[in-house]
Amino acid sequence: MKRALITGVTGQDGAYLSKLLLDKGYDVYGTFRRSSTPNFWRLQSLGIFSRLHLIPSDLVDMGSLMEAVKVSRPDEIYNLAASSFVSTAFEQPVGNAEITGIAVTKLLETIRFLNPKIKFYQASTSEMYGNSSDSSLSETTPFHPASPYAISKLYGHWMTDVYRKAYGIFACTGILFNHESPLRGLEFVSRKITNGVAKIKLGLEKKLVLGNLNAQRDWGLASEYMEGIYKIMHYKYPETFVLSTNESHSVKEFAQLAFESVDLDWKKYVKIDKRFMRPLEVNYLRGNNSKAVKKLKWKPKIKFEKLVDIMLKEDLTRWENFLQGRSFPWDAPLYPDENKIITRNSLENKTSTKLSRKTK
Ligand code: NAP
Ligand code: GDD
Repeated sequence: MKRALITGVTGQDGAYLSKLLLDKGYDVYGTFRRSSTPNFWRLQSLGIFSRLHLIPSDLVDMGSLMEAVKVSRPDEIYNLAASSFVSTAFEQPVGNAEITGIAVTKLLETIRFLNPKIKFYQASTSEMYGNSSDSSLSETTPFHPASPYAISKLYGHWMTDVYRKAYGIFACTGILFNHESPLRGLEFVSRKITNGVAKIKLGLEKKLVLGNLNAQRDWGLASEYMEGIYKIMHYKYPETFVLSTNESHSVKEFAQLAFESVDLDWKKYVKIDKRFMRPLEVNYLRGNNSKAVKKLKWKPKIKFEKLVDIMLKEDLTRWENFLQGRSFPWDAPLYPDENKIITRNSLENKTSTKLSRKTK
């Protein structure tokens, strides 16, 4: 039986990848960081919580990473853990470099010391392209990172490349464009919209406050991208692959489609607040997945419209079940009103300062 170690098993991708590997017969070990309240709702909602081995570990602590590798004795390590929310990386750039960047080297060093035969996958990102002048982004497009998160990720991306070439480690990378699902964190715009629209439709909320509606992203379905990651890890050579849908849509289109799906006019409910805009924005991302299609035979089936439909239906069902008193693993009821969270960005913004005074 093959053994896999997944860092960040409590996150969206960690949950879907765990399920995929368990279904393929792997013995799956996942690292999680200790928190005062358990954070396993995604694993529970996929029905795999009891099938995993869990190892407490933090990316800032090299000893705990070495321990995780020693305990799990993996054939493959998938490094999915990161501080993945771009806005937070602007607020905590130093911590982000440590968690999202330097930790990659800690894992690669661990492999080099303990067992260089372990295969390694690094979760790279389309954010590394930043505001590129190319309209279709592939493995050969130069990177222009435009956030502390993207810079940390680019460091991890190149370090993986160096360990592959310098030490012959099977170290591969996937440059994944945005991938979403009903298990997406509520702070990301896709889920913020589908959760918000579901609440408005059911009379639980009156408005949806967003930032830059013009930003465009290449959005796909997370579970399909985990199949792509598996194929990257099992390609005959350790290489870099772009995974994307090759379509780009704006945040406005996402919101419009979600509201229209429940017969509501988005213009009546969507408000703009600068506090949800970034100090530096990546305006446009669209991938070119032709290398993955050709070499991995990976092609996403779920495109934008279907993705919005899947996420919205799930959030509507959850809130309906909640109103009927049913309990199930879920994040939304405990998620705070974002307007109450004071960030550097909100303090620097006059509009939002007024708003938070009102909400006190
Ligand atoms: P996610 O839902 O935010 O999950 C991130 C995981 O990292 C969580 O399990 C989190 O633990 C863990 N983590 C954060 N800080 C940690 C620390 N200091 N020590 C140990 N674990 C820590 O992200 P995702 O969407 O699944 O993304 C998975 C990976 O792919 C990330 O590296 C992300 O940057 C990258 N990526 C994502 C996308 C996308 O569109 N989803 C696209 C490209 C690349 P907690 O649950 O305790 O917070
Ligand atoms: N989160 C958020 N909230 N984003 C908003 C909002 C809002 O209220 N309003 C507009 N946006 C815009 C953001 O400015 C950004 O341009 C776009 O919506 C998408 O934001 P996110 O959903 O937060 O995702 P992201 O593209 O910044 O980052 C995600 O994708 C990357 C891959 O490209 C994350 O998953 C990263 O970890 C990942 O690497």
